[in-house]
Amino acid sequence: IRKVTTHRLSEMKLRGEKISMLTAYDYSMAQLVDEAGIDVILVGDSASNVMAGNETTLPITLDQMIYHGTSVVKAVQRALVVVDLPFGTYQGNSREALSSAIRIMKETAADAVKLEGGKEVLESVNRILSAGIPIMGHLGLMPQSIHKFGTYTVRAKEEAEAEKLISDAKLLEDAGCFAIVLEKIPAKLGKLVAEEVKIPVIGIGAGGGVDGQVLVIHDLLGITQQFSPRFLRRYHNLAAEIKGAVGNYITDVKSQDFPNEKEQY
Ligand code: KIV
Ligand code: NA
Repeated sequence: IRKVTTHRLSEMKLRGEKISMLTAYDYSMAQLVDEAGIDVILVGDSASNVMAGNETTLPITLDQMIYHGTSVVKAVQRALVVVDLPFGTYQGNSREALSSAIRIMKETAADAVKLEGGKEVLESVNRILSAGIPIMGHLGLMPQSIHKFGTYTVRAKEEAEAEKLISDAKLLEDAGCFAIVLEKIPAKLGKLVAEEVKIPVIGIGAGGGVDGQVLVIHDLLGITQQFSPRFLRRYHNLAAEIKGAVGNYITDVKSQDFPNEKEQY
């Protein structure tokens, strides 16, 4: 199996082949997602919501991200594995940012890190890249900054915010990031950014004009039930299937149908 590299992602952009990306947070799921042939697996800090049950991504720690990252990397043979730097581990000062990124690379053996922001975190970006650690940027809706905005609504609908996003994307490209995630912005702006930068732009709610798409695996599979933004296409209703299977098991235990003669020693 030929492992996906950051170089291969840029070749895909050149060829016009769209990049597929999904999150995974644990060994079993990462193995399935990788075997299905996904290009990039993101160990997202959405683990804070999906795995730990927090309201936001802010509470998840570097140690917790490393735990998820380690589990995922063990399962993956083909996909490029990217681990999110969690809130508070890279914004303050660039030396702390570098040591956070080094911990992720050393302890998880992931291929790259992802962080949110443009100009504000440029010093951290430069320092991490100088150490030879590949970075995926993340602009548009940045969940780690939710308290600054107060809502999860579409970003960069106004001219000024769109201009800032375009200039941040160029800054990240010039710094040497290998790709950028754009979250929840107008499709027109997503397409424009993908045309303006040479590095791959992966969208989530950023329209079809970008170079690839990313979703949270639990959303795609329909394990999460409450979250229904417009950009989410559910490929399964796993919540119903899991509850059905568990319900059948409960019935069989109560009725003493399980275990039967052949299911015991
Ligand atoms: O944490 C995450 O799942 C993400 C994706 C939504 C891009 O950052
Ligand atoms: Na994230």
